[in-house]
Parts: sequence; C-alpha cells; structure tokens
Amino acid sequence: MELSVIILAAGQGKRMNSDLPKVLQPLAGRPLLSHVLATAAALKPAQICVVYGHGGDSVQQAFADDGLLWALQAEQLGTGHAVQQALPLLAQANLALVLCGDVPLIQPDALQALVKAAGPDKLALLTAELDDSTGYGRIVRDAHGHVASIVEERDATVDQRAILEINTGLMVAPVPLLQGWLSQVKADNAQGEFYLTDVIALAAASGHTVTAVQATAAAEVLGINDRSQLAVAEGIYRARVAEALMQQGARLADPARLDVRGELRCGRDVFIDINAVFEGQVELGDGVHIGPNACIRDAVIGAGTQVHPNCVIEEARIGELCQIGPFARMRPGVHLEERAKLGNFVELKKSHVGAGSKVNHLSYVGDTTLGEGVNIGAGTITCNYDGANKYPTVIGDGAFIGSGVQLVAPVEIGAGATIGAGSVISKAAPAGELTVGRAKQVTISGWQRPVKKK
Ligand code: UD1
Ligand code: CA
Repeated sequence: MELSVIILAAGQGKRMNSDLPKVLQPLAGRPLLSHVLATAAALKPAQICVVYGHGGDSVQQAFADDGLLWALQAEQLGTGHAVQQALPLLAQANLALVLCGDVPLIQPDALQALVKAAGPDKLALLTAELDDSTGYGRIVRDAHGHVASIVEERDATVDQRAILEINTGLMVAPVPLLQGWLSQVKADNAQGEFYLTDVIALAAASGHTVTAVQATAAAEVLGINDRSQLAVAEGIYRARVAEALMQQGARLADPARLDVRGELRCGRDVFIDINAVFEGQVELGDGVHIGPNACIRDAVIGAGTQVHPNCVIEEARIGELCQIGPFARMRPGVHLEERAKLGNFVELKKSHVGAGSKVNHLSYVGDTTLGEGVNIGAGTITCNYDGANKYPTVIGDGAFIGSGVQLVAPVEIGAGATIGAGSVISKAAPAGELTVGRAKQVTISGWQRPVKKK
C-alpha cells in the first residue's frame, strides 16, 4: 500500500508560553516542523498533509514551497479531530502515517519499521518504555499482553499512571479504517477533546490487529511541550551531530559544546575547540583548526587553515593554510586566497585578499581587492562609504601600506607601492613608489604647557 503522511501541527503549544506557534519553535536553528517534514520526506510518501491551525498563516508561509497538502483545523478540538481534517485530502487506498509536529527527533528507520507493521486491516502504534512516563498517554495491555487502549495521564487511574510504556503519538492505519474509528470517538474525557488515542480501543474492540512497535531509542520519541523539553531535544540533537562528526574523523574538544544549526562537513583531522556555533552550510578542509568561541555561517575553509579564538565568519571562502584571528570578523562576501593572514580586531567585508597577504591588527577593509603579498599596517582602514554610496579600493601585488593609513575610496594603490604611516590617500598611488600624505612634522621650541588658573 502507498503511504500518506499526516503531520499534526495545529496546536498552540500553551506550555511554551510563547507568541510563536509551537511547531515553529527552533531546534538546531530551524522549526520543529521542518525536522518532522525532512524525516517524512525521507520515506518518499505519496502525500504529506500538514494539519495547521494556531498561527496558521505563519506556519504555512514557513513551508510554502514544499509541495505539501494543508488541512485547516480552525478550532483545536483534539488530536483525533485534527486527523479527521486531513483524511478527506488523502488517497483512500493508502496507509496513513500520523506524525506529530512536536516529536521532531524521530528517524526514518523507526518509521519504516512502524509502517511495515501496519497493513490493510492492521494498525501499528509506536510505543516506548521510559524510566519516567509523566505527561504521556499510557499503553494499557490486556491479560494476554495485547494492546487494549491508550489512557491519557489526566484520565488515568493511579495504577495506570504507573505504566512505563507510553504512546509516542505516532501510528499507522489504512485511511478508511481510521476514518471509521474516528467517527465514533467522543470527547468525554478530562480535556473535553477528541483524542486520536481512542481509536486504539475501537480498533482492538472491532477485532483488528493492533501492533505496538517499541521504539529502540527513547530519545527519538521525546514530545516537546515546553521549553525545558525543547532544551533536552537540543541536547539530544547536539549529541547526535557530534557523534557523526567524530565518526567521520573530527576531533571535538567537548561534544557538548558544539552547535550545528545547518550542515557541517569536515575533512580528516579537523579539530574544533569549545563553544563553536556553525550555521547554514559550512565545510572545513582537512586539518582545519577551529579555536574556541567561533561563530561560522555559510563558509568554506581550506585545508590546514587555523581559526584562532573568538572569530565571527559569515559567507566567506577561505583558502588553505590561512591564519585568522584571534578576534577577527568576516562579514559577508570575503574571499581569502591561500596563506592569507587576518589578525586581531580586523573586520573585512566584501573583499578579495590575495595569496600570502596580511591584515594583522585593528583594520577595517571593505569593498577591496588586495593582490598577493600585500601588507596592511596596524590601524589602517578603507574609507569605503561617503554616507550615501560605497566605493572600491584596489591594492596591487606586494604593496606595503604603513600603519594608521586611511584609504579614501575609490582609490588604487599600485603594485609594490609603499604608503607612509599615517597617510590619508585619496588619489591613486603609483606602483613601486613611496607615497606619503600627511602633514609635515614640526617642533615649536620653547612652547609652554598652560597652567591652571588659580
Ligand atoms: C499526545 C497524545 C499522548 C502522547 C503524546 C506524545 C493524544 C490525545 N495524546 O499528547 O498520548 O503520549 O502526544 O507526545 O493524542 N494537535 C493538533 N490539534 C489539536 C490538538 C493537538 O494539531 O487539536 C497537535 C499538536 O500541535 C501536537 C500534537 O497534535 O503537534 C500533539 O498534541 P499535544 O497537545 O502536544 O498532545 P500531548 O498532550 O503531548
Ligand atoms: Ca505533545
């Protein structure tokens, strides 16, 4: 049978105490729902239908281009009611896999096993044995050990609350059977809601096979209702990513102090020190060394490059064997060729730095093309902005710019030129020559400092 996926995402998430709908709360930098969607897509189902409601527009907008079916649940009358909104949109001959937007860590393998256990007259339910089942629906089994029903915590007796096998919220059943059972579900429970979980007792009572598939990893089925559970999920995700990186050959100073909010690819023998945050797509070549407190977004860093402590790098292409930082900042659009050096308190923006060039201390370089083997002295800056427009600076190969120079763009420094310290350069400086643009030094002999009036 073909598969249709229903993702429940209409709830407000009251326990989050947030203006953001629960399924848009970020885990590893992207909405909870996007994790579930990615896992659902891995199963290559015929259809994916998202049930939305609370904060509906923002949820739909966040996933507008994903080719999804959308079912509106205008009033959140319970998980059973939510599934009912989706069923009319699904192919009647299909199996429906119900996923929850707030169970984001589930993996395709677990879902595949669950789907296998369902069939034309069978329902399969994903359960888990937890050390602490607080907050979840409990699985009630009959004398033969068969699943008889699910009871929500609020409706459970003291004995039922002691049950450690829980409902993960995920199940698979044929669309028409689900439809039939749901039409019989009543809202006669503590919350006055139509519970999806009530279909289990109806299925069992009507003689259908209910198979409980137990999740092998309890961490995968964590339901996120509040921010504390969100932080736990972040920790599980972090550990998962760190483990994969280490298996691929990266050395991590502390797997618990590395956040990947996107995709990080590492070559061999990469070292990542503590408190690194990677966002977007980041690629680290063989032997790259990332110092502590790095924030790196959308960057490719070449083999053997060292990023010293406390650097911020965004949208950059960095060649091999470069030295960066400590305390360097690359704003978007920087390309460093091999062996370039950026030192401390240096800010670069939209610039190309040729091989072996150095910008070592306290500089701002923006909209600039640096040739090879250029040296920029301490405190030198490009004045690329006149308050209205931005202008380029071009510096030729082998130029030596002294300390404290202001390069007023648009301006061009010829290859091999030398610029005297403290110069303000607003006209082209010729290649191979020394150019100095500063007031002549004078000494006023016999000058007296003023004294304080009595
Ligand atoms: C639910 C299950 C519980 C299970 C737990 C697993 C029910 C009645 N209970 O409880 O057995 O152990 O998940 O995490 O199913 N939603 C809607 N529309 C609604 C209500 C909810 O779309 O009217 C969505 C929510 O956005 C959420 C999911 O359904 O993604 C689950 O709802 P939630 O209120 O979090 O249910 P739990 O109390 O966690
Ligand atoms: Ca939940």
